[in-house]
Amino acid sequence: MTTDALKADTLGAIAAADSPEALEAVRVAALGKAGGITQLMKGLGALAPDERLRVAPVYQALREEVSAALEAKKAALGRAALTARLAAERIDMSLPAAMQPVGTVHPISQVMDELSEIFADLGFAVAEGPEIETDWHNFTALNIPPEHPARAMHDTFYARPEGGDESTRMVLRTHTSPVQIRTMMSQKPPIRIIAPGRVYRSDSDATHTPMFHQVEGLVIDRGIHLGHLKWTLETFVKGFFEVDDVTLRLRPSFFPFTEPSVEVDVGCSWEGGTLKVGGTSSWLEILGSGMVHPKVIANCGLDPDEWQGFAFGCGIDRLAMLKYGMTDLRAFFDADLRWLRHFGFASLDVPTLSAGVGA
Ligand code: DAH
Repeated sequence: MTTDALKADTLGAIAAADSPEALEAVRVAALGKAGGITQLMKGLGALAPDERLRVAPVYQALREEVSAALEAKKAALGRAALTARLAAERIDMSLPAAMQPVGTVHPISQVMDELSEIFADLGFAVAEGPEIETDWHNFTALNIPPEHPARAMHDTFYARPEGGDESTRMVLRTHTSPVQIRTMMSQKPPIRIIAPGRVYRSDSDATHTPMFHQVEGLVIDRGIHLGHLKWTLETFVKGFFEVDDVTLRLRPSFFPFTEPSVEVDVGCSWEGGTLKVGGTSSWLEILGSGMVHPKVIANCGLDPDEWQGFAFGCGIDRLAMLKYGMTDLRAFFDADLRWLRHFGFASLDVPTLSAGVGA
């Protein structure tokens, strides 16, 4: 092929290339290792000196012209692609659009806010304690001494003791009850607190996750008795489930930190395959409670002859499931966006008693 024909061919192919891939194929055919122009340049060495002097500038000029044409075409194709993309991505900002909620409040946070609202109305403050707790606060001070069988029931996550000294061993708190201890040791009675928060047990199936949530309640005052406990729990359950027809069943039970101890069931009924609060055809255990054991009061440096109180502990996840109709506890912690959008709450819907908590 003559140089002119090669030039005309290549420039024609560049002009006809309609995509970066087609253009690249033309470049390889002309300037690649085995390309037409590359071959011409390679052949220069074998020519006689006179001949080489004559054709070398011609080949060079050809190579430069083709390179420039390739560059120009590449830039043109890039601009065309950008224009096409901009046209495709065009958004008409003047069209009216519904507000999409960006994030939602998790049902656990929602229930904690609802509980705080209900109990604030009864004069309770919200207390907190650490999730990595001392063995003493989590067990011993709550009248669960070392070797007590109740420790085995808690499936505790133990931290490695510092320097092998068992007495300094920390635990992931197995319940919110150690907040009772911390509150009694740091505040003077009368005390009225709730303590919602995370707790940990080494347990996992459809109804148990290794991390879950509880709310603790504690009242310490003079002359407190079981009647106060029952009224408080009834008021709480009615407010939380927003039903007046609530029946509570108090069953004698045992907890090392309360005497007497009661477990509380709420009356329920089955409606179209789901359990609803109200009625008495079914019972669901929702919390443990009792009168704070005199030993626990004494462990916190208070005189049990002067101060009495009641306490309760309740699974928040279970409350949320019962109120909002979730069936699998594990879904709470899967961070599945579809689940969160379905069960989540609008961030501006702050629960208030007047508007109905969680309505
Ligand atoms: N801490 C207990 C648990 O996790 C629940 C509990 C029962 C808390 C009775 C209390 C109480 O305050 O009085 O199983």
